[in-house]
Amino acid sequence: MGKNKAKQSQFKAKTYSIKANFCTIGSAFCLQLHLNLVNLLRNLSMSIANNAFQKCINPDCGAEFDCGQALFKCPNCGELLDAQYNWDKITIPAKLSDFAKRWANKNNPLDFSGVWRFRELLSFCDDKNKITIGEGQTILQQNDAVAEYAGVKPGCLYLQYEGLNPSGSFKDNGMTAAFSHAKMVGAKSSACASTGNTSASVALYAHHCGLKCTVFIGSGRIAFGKLSQAMDYGAHTIQIQGDFDDCMRQVQDVCTKLGLYLLNSLNPFRLEGQKTIMYRIIEGLGWDVPDWIIVPGGNLGNSSAFGKAFYELKQLDLIERIPRMAIINATGADTLTELVNNKKLIWNDGKVNQAIIDDYYAALTAKNFSPHTCASAIEISRPVNLKKCLRSIHICNGIVRAVTDEEILDAKAIIGKFGLGCEPASAATIAGLKNLIAKGIIDKNERIACVLTGHPLKDPNVTVDYHKEKQGKFSNPPIEAPNNIDEIIKLIN
Ligand code: F0G
Repeated sequence: MGKNKAKQSQFKAKTYSIKANFCTIGSAFCLQLHLNLVNLLRNLSMSIANNAFQKCINPDCGAEFDCGQALFKCPNCGELLDAQYNWDKITIPAKLSDFAKRWANKNNPLDFSGVWRFRELLSFCDDKNKITIGEGQTILQQNDAVAEYAGVKPGCLYLQYEGLNPSGSFKDNGMTAAFSHAKMVGAKSSACASTGNTSASVALYAHHCGLKCTVFIGSGRIAFGKLSQAMDYGAHTIQIQGDFDDCMRQVQDVCTKLGLYLLNSLNPFRLEGQKTIMYRIIEGLGWDVPDWIIVPGGNLGNSSAFGKAFYELKQLDLIERIPRMAIINATGADTLTELVNNKKLIWNDGKVNQAIIDDYYAALTAKNFSPHTCASAIEISRPVNLKKCLRSIHICNGIVRAVTDEEILDAKAIIGKFGLGCEPASAATIAGLKNLIAKGIIDKNERIACVLTGHPLKDPNVTVDYHKEKQGKFSNPPIEAPNNIDEIIKLIN
């Protein structure tokens, strides 16, 4: 706790020294300066009221902003922003298990929500602004059959089913938080780029809280379940002739030009909601941490949020140790794997070697590269949260691997047969785990939690093709039968 207290008083010291500077100026020399100071003071007092502020992750910048502003990049240097907290102003439970008391009060929508049940750990807005549709009612399932497939000892493998969220993916954890922020800042219109699940979730929440929404998707790059949701939930759906990375670039420009509220994981408040997936895994393990978290890597919002969650829990003395993390790419979209394993890119206390990234992206552009994998959710080659993910790798002593589409599809069939199923991107976790166990990097006796990010019905085409076209080891095709009882019985026997 000593370190924690020191950190808290650091925040205090910072706040007070800024105030002192304002006081010494006294009667303003010029009106403009005076107005700037009034604004800054107003922002400062809002930050204090909200217990939180935004901070640039670039250590050479470190600019701080009030939570009352909708910013998706640091206005000073263009880097990513974090939500940060004045922990000494927030009443945090003495131990994580204290959150369990909220289960007794399920009639309060905020206690029912699997995100806001943990609200003290993402305390950036008042309760009156919180938007919830009952997200986060997900389960952690111990699964020995899938464990056997991956080579893990019985009793050691846990699957976190985020497909059980209202829109069928983990995204709802982030959207409940981001839309609460959107309400807090008075946003009227929102937008996102998406490989599918973000668009489904945005459309659902936008409709729920009366915001207009436009979603950008790559033409032909989205699974039908997800596209059907975006249209059905009433999103203005724009199919761009390009891939996700093209959509991501366009949406940022459009949001800037039109003043739309951006809901991609560049939005620091979205990642605050996604932290709670880790709290629920800890809860599912009887308030204990696993040895490993395994997560698919696409735009790298989850891995970024998970590392931050564990860092904060440790800082607050709510956990004793931080689990290790394995982030799994598809081989057809393996930017993180290439940059970390081959180009040796590291967090380096925030001083990330930008030249390595620039060179890598320039090479992708030169060969006109577009990512391709059956796991369309993670078909991304320029992940926007790359630097925050590097920070998580540092925090969690993390590793990165890539798995083939074949490995993903076989693992998905096993999760379907022996578990509750998932979409292809989610199955990358089990494919990656199998690989890491085989190589002895993860021990079969360690306790492992894999995050299954999306529901199996998100991408029925991939599943049907796998089984009907006998694409893999576990294909289970339907059998054609004549309309005749004897023939049918013969087939069953
Ligand atoms: N799994 C699923 C099912 C996803 O939809 C995504 C991302 C990921 C994993 C990767 O997560 O970006 O946090 O590393 N889908 C985004 C979308 C990109 O637009 O729906 P990440």
